[in-house]
Amino acid sequence: MIESEKEKQAKENDGGLQPFKLVKYFTFSSLAVMLVFALLLSWIISNNARKVMLNQSEEYSLVLAETLNQQVFRRFVLPTVVRYGNIALSNPEQFDALDKIVSSIIQGMKIKTVTIYDSQVNITSYSTDLKLVGKEGLGGPEYHRSLQGESNSLLTSTGTIFNLVPGSTPPSCELQTFIPFRQVRQGGESSDVIMGVIEITKDLSREYTNIIRLQSSIIGISVTVMMILFLILRSIVSRADNIMERRNEERLRLKEKLNQAERLAHLGTMVATVSHEIKSPLGIVRSTGEILEKRIKKVAPGNEHLARIIVEETGRLNDIVIEFLDFARPQEPRPEITNVNGVLEKAVNFISPKLSEQDIKLNLSLDQNLPSGNIDVNLFYRALLNILVNGMQAMGEGGQLDVSTRRADDGWIVIAIGDNGCGMSEEKLARIFQPFFTDKHKGTGLGLAITKNIIESHNGDIHVTSEPDSGTTFTILLPAV
Ligand SMILES: Nc1ncnc2c1ncn2[C@@H]1O[C@H](COP(=O)(O)OP(=O)(O)OP(=O)(O)O)[C@@H](O)[C@H]1O
Ligand SMILES: [Mg+2]
Repeated sequence: MIESEKEKQAKENDGGLQPFKLVKYFTFSSLAVMLVFALLLSWIISNNARKVMLNQSEEYSLVLAETLNQQVFRRFVLPTVVRYGNIALSNPEQFDALDKIVSSIIQGMKIKTVTIYDSQVNITSYSTDLKLVGKEGLGGPEYHRSLQGESNSLLTSTGTIFNLVPGSTPPSCELQTFIPFRQVRQGGESSDVIMGVIEITKDLSREYTNIIRLQSSIIGISVTVMMILFLILRSIVSRADNIMERRNEERLRLKEKLNQAERLAHLGTMVATVSHEIKSPLGIVRSTGEILEKRIKKVAPGNEHLARIIVEETGRLNDIVIEFLDFARPQEPRPEITNVNGVLEKAVNFISPKLSEQDIKLNLSLDQNLPSGNIDVNLFYRALLNILVNGMQAMGEGGQLDVSTRRADDGWIVIAIGDNGCGMSEEKLARIFQPFFTDKHKGTGLGLAITKNIIESHNGDIHVTSEPDSGTTFTILLPAV
């Protein structure tokens, strides 16, 4: 039973935090989504850039290959056939002649190699890279496709963003374009006779590295933006979390306060009942004590002080019972329009013999134009007396009691009662209005609790300022009529 109550409470406390737990999950999942999105975006963009680069380079190579085809045919094939009867590149003279023509065409064009394959056998007849000349089987499927009359390209690339790290092998990329080497008719147009295959190899490593750089910057920027967003989200969530936690604590505190108030209310009823029950027998004991005092005086003179003790102590007990009853069952104020100065003077007059006894100087400064207040005279008198007596007790022998009234700018009545007694520490000051808080042997600790109740039941307010060893001032604010 107790366990299920606890679980219920835990769930209740957790209830307020639930939405923010969801927001936390949202923060982390949004981070993952953003990461995937950034990678996808960088892949799409770099892929497109690659395609654009490939298309442009391929077009460029095709145009170049066409020029090579025309130039080589006119400037090399025709004159060689006329001069030597046939083409034999094994003849160094023919080779040099072709090499000069090719080199003059590709000069300054960022072409890595130009290779010409034979049409009969897959053999390299000519290449700007001399190491390749005479090698067999170098032309792959692209060579065979070209022999069918179809121009085509092959892109080979190696390297990822990790190859941008200094010290690692830099990324490399090559575009090989294969076109059929055709005979050229007199009018300049190409015929269908294919004499070989021209391969143009272009080094695109620089462009490819740029694309990888672009890819890495996209990833870098996306990750940075994402991290910033994530941090902002996290700080919002953690702030909201703190607010929720504080609210939850506050709620629990209020609940605890409410429970305490309920317990105090029960206690109050109990105290009121007990006090009420004690009051009548106490009255009987007191009057019996008074009768006894008179009789003892006659029967055993000199012992009447014993009966006197009974009378005095029952009187003190009666005062305590009355205070308990006042606190437990506060009287409903019956207000009437009254001169507040008058009530204050009455209370001061009541304590004045005690003041002279304790050698306390009274400094009374009452505003003669003070507006009237709507107060229950008896209750208000009790409240003022509590404060005055406390001041007197705080000063002991000697001291000064300042009592003043004035009208505040906003029209309220202000009553100030200050003493230069022992004063209070901040901790004590925070507790003085709590019921039963006292540091006196014969005090109940209910005086100020009752006083505060009375002032608040008059729609007023009470404040205290105090300095240890220097004094205390109570200020009462009361609405004027
Ligand atoms: N003027 C003051 N100077 C210093 N301490 C004060 C002053 N007024 C109140 N206090 C402190 O506040 C406590 C509570 O005061 P309160 O009047 O409620 O109870 P009490 O005076 O101790 O007992 P009683 O019920 O007899 O009034 C006092 O015990 C005292 O420590
Ligand atoms: Mg008191």
